[in-house]
Amino acid sequence: MAESGEPVGSATEKGERVVLTLCMGSSCFARGNQKNLEVIRQFLKDHRMEDRVSLVGSRCEGACTQGPNLRIGDRLFPRINQEDLPALLERELL
Ligand code: FES
Repeated sequence: MAESGEPVGSATEKGERVVLTLCMGSSCFARGNQKNLEVIRQFLKDHRMEDRVSLVGSRCEGACTQGPNLRIGDRLFPRINQEDLPALLERELL
């Protein structure tokens, strides 16, 4: 955990485990996260990242209108979709 005032770099820069939190609330799930979950799993498998990335589900975070939502660390990525997701994951994780 970073101390107050300490710059917080990306988890990948520090070699720490990255946490992807995919909203599994009913709205995000129905609007695409059911399929996005499979895209993320396949991406992690293809890039052998399962050891350094944790994929977890969350309940509704109250941001349904922006959904389907994904968090990478504490950053929110709204309106994710299957087509753009691989490029987003490449940009943020590789
Ligand atoms: S269902 Fe995802 S924010 Fe509400």
